[in-house]
Amino acid sequence: MSPFLLTRTLPEDATDAALRADVLEGLTRTPKALPPKWFYDAVGSELFEKITELPEYYPTRAEREILIDRAGEIASASGARTLVELGSGSSDKTRHLLDAMPGLHTYVPVDVSESALRLAGEALVAERPGLRVHALIDDFTAGIRLPETPGPRLVAFLGGTIGNLVPVERAAFLGSVRGLLAPGDALLLGTDLVKDAGVLVAAYDDSAGVTAAFNKNVLAVVNRELGADFDPGAFDHVALWDAEREWIEMRLRSRVAQSVKIPALDLAVDFGEGEELRTEVSAKFRREGVRGELAVAGLELTRWWTDREGRFALSLSVAR
Ligand code: AVJ
Repeated sequence: MSPFLLTRTLPEDATDAALRADVLEGLTRTPKALPPKWFYDAVGSELFEKITELPEYYPTRAEREILIDRAGEIASASGARTLVELGSGSSDKTRHLLDAMPGLHTYVPVDVSESALRLAGEALVAERPGLRVHALIDDFTAGIRLPETPGPRLVAFLGGTIGNLVPVERAAFLGSVRGLLAPGDALLLGTDLVKDAGVLVAAYDDSAGVTAAFNKNVLAVVNRELGADFDPGAFDHVALWDAEREWIEMRLRSRVAQSVKIPALDLAVDFGEGEELRTEVSAKFRREGVRGELAVAGLELTRWWTDREGRFALSLSVAR
């Protein structure tokens, strides 16, 4: 069996420190906000998997369709010998890409979840003799270092997760991705596209209430990790389309005036009746916008593929 390596760069206690800092900062500011990365504990990750199977939530299916149809083109256009995937999770969709890259030397999945990396990595090396997997436990939003593997490199950032960053964060992120690439190396980026507001809102406010449960799960995470006493039932799930900024926002709206205690931070947080806490931004894109943001980072958009319904795009851009 080919080797499976796992390297931890992220310190074991970094996650706890980052959560404390984000909760302290986000719940003492106006308006209140928490970064979406805290949704994804074991329960939240399972709820997200369920979201991807909902009839209303099209992005995962649309992106998979593109990957299935275009994997060969992506592989030959990039000529990659190393595939790096940021936020790899289960590496599920990536399998289509790996199947189209028989000459691949090393796959480098990067994720904060050690359990997800182990599960996916061990299965992959067992299935694919000859493929080396070097998994990195790291927070890719904080700027990572890659193992020395043969080029050209292809960095994949799928799922539309770049939409969870606001524009200044996206610029910083794309700049750091460019820093991982040599001239001629490429970025494969998944972006959800601007479309009818009704379709977008339904994708984030499904009729079965799975997204509502996912949204409220961040309160359970803060309760468990920081000893807080949030009552998830005292908040309503809100999903709205900001037509000006072209992003979906998820919020939690306090049903009543209430005070929440967060012992680990020695903090009490007051919510007014109807006060909202922003939990996620999910930006939607247009081709020219993506091209422009990539160009600023030193990446030239060379290919643009969408699903048949034009809902989601995968772009390939090349480092200059
Ligand atoms: C996994 C970040 C792409 O923004 O659509 C799904 C997360 N939030 N439903 C998205 C999510 C609400 C998702 N991403």
